[in-house]
Amino acid sequence: MQTTTVPEVSKTNAADFLPLNGTDYVEFYVGNAKQAAHFYKTAFGFQSLAYAGPETGMMDRVSYVIRQNKLTFVLTTPLKTNNAIADHIYKHGDGVKVLALMVDDATDAWHQTTSRGGKSYLEPNTLSDENGQVILSGIHTYGDTVHLFVERKNYSGIFMPGFRAWKSAYNPVSTGLLYVDHCVGNVGWNQMNPWVKFYEEVMGFKNILSFDDKDISTEYSALMSKVMSNGNGYVKFPINEPAEGKKKSQVEEFLDFYNGEGVQHVAIATLDIVASVIDLQNRGVEFLKVPDSYYDTVLERVGKIEEDLAPLRDLGILIDRDEEGYLLQIFSKPLEDRPTLFFEVIQRKGAKSFGKGNFKALFEALEREQDSRGNL
Ligand code: FE2
Repeated sequence: MQTTTVPEVSKTNAADFLPLNGTDYVEFYVGNAKQAAHFYKTAFGFQSLAYAGPETGMMDRVSYVIRQNKLTFVLTTPLKTNNAIADHIYKHGDGVKVLALMVDDATDAWHQTTSRGGKSYLEPNTLSDENGQVILSGIHTYGDTVHLFVERKNYSGIFMPGFRAWKSAYNPVSTGLLYVDHCVGNVGWNQMNPWVKFYEEVMGFKNILSFDDKDISTEYSALMSKVMSNGNGYVKFPINEPAEGKKKSQVEEFLDFYNGEGVQHVAIATLDIVASVIDLQNRGVEFLKVPDSYYDTVLERVGKIEEDLAPLRDLGILIDRDEEGYLLQIFSKPLEDRPTLFFEVIQRKGAKSFGKGNFKALFEALEREQDSRGNL
């Protein structure tokens, strides 16, 4: 096995020139934000938070902001045809446009990253209303995806200027989803290392884990992955690249249907994965299933765990262990008709890794789905 944990001493970026306080929000460009907001509220247990549109002076789009604990999604749809949002949806289908990061100084974040080669998406821009000010800036990352830096330390409003509170009579209860654990990007052939370099040089991230095609391969297909983390570990971006196999890699299927590089999955943390997944399944969320035989030997591989195995087996929750503890994880089926974006639900019990021990079983499950679409 070629999995390597890169030693800290091999890294030169000692000072954190881009301090991040976590993920601020994830913004999706979607064909119908009103219905998407309803779906995420109903299926995943988000609450209505804020709204922007023509009524608030945003003439070209509508955005719904929904929140569950520390997890904030923005769902944005264009109101006219000829604009960048409509073009994005035409090219990619519904997908993640913005991975917004919480910073203390968005102006400095922009200078630090653009001076290191980051391509500007948004120069520092101050938005003000009676509740104070939010400063936004941003840079491009893989595909048409962008990172926005959000400085909201001088803002006391509901979300940001331009938005008003969205009060709804429909407030489904939380499914226990807490915050973004990590967001994974799929990039093209030979593009993993250039993007690893981007996160190292432009954003000061470190490569904390690497998986080669021997780690992540099945009989048919393969991929490679490197996990990038910021200094305090609050923001983790694994990067996947397809690898040669007998058949088409799942990353290639994504690239074909997303029409380029983009966010493959958002992993969301919970403190009780069994309760969360029961709730999510009861609301219609569909998850990938590994064969029942996975559970016959899993405890030999991962050792003792606190949970009963039976509910994990019934729900299809996967288990893995590293030096620091174990984790429980499950992957949804794609969230839309294109086989592109999906979610992971993860409960960490000490483990800081990403479920390498599950890759084979998981990717075989993914391939069964891929094969049923005729794309393997
Ligand atoms: Fe993941």
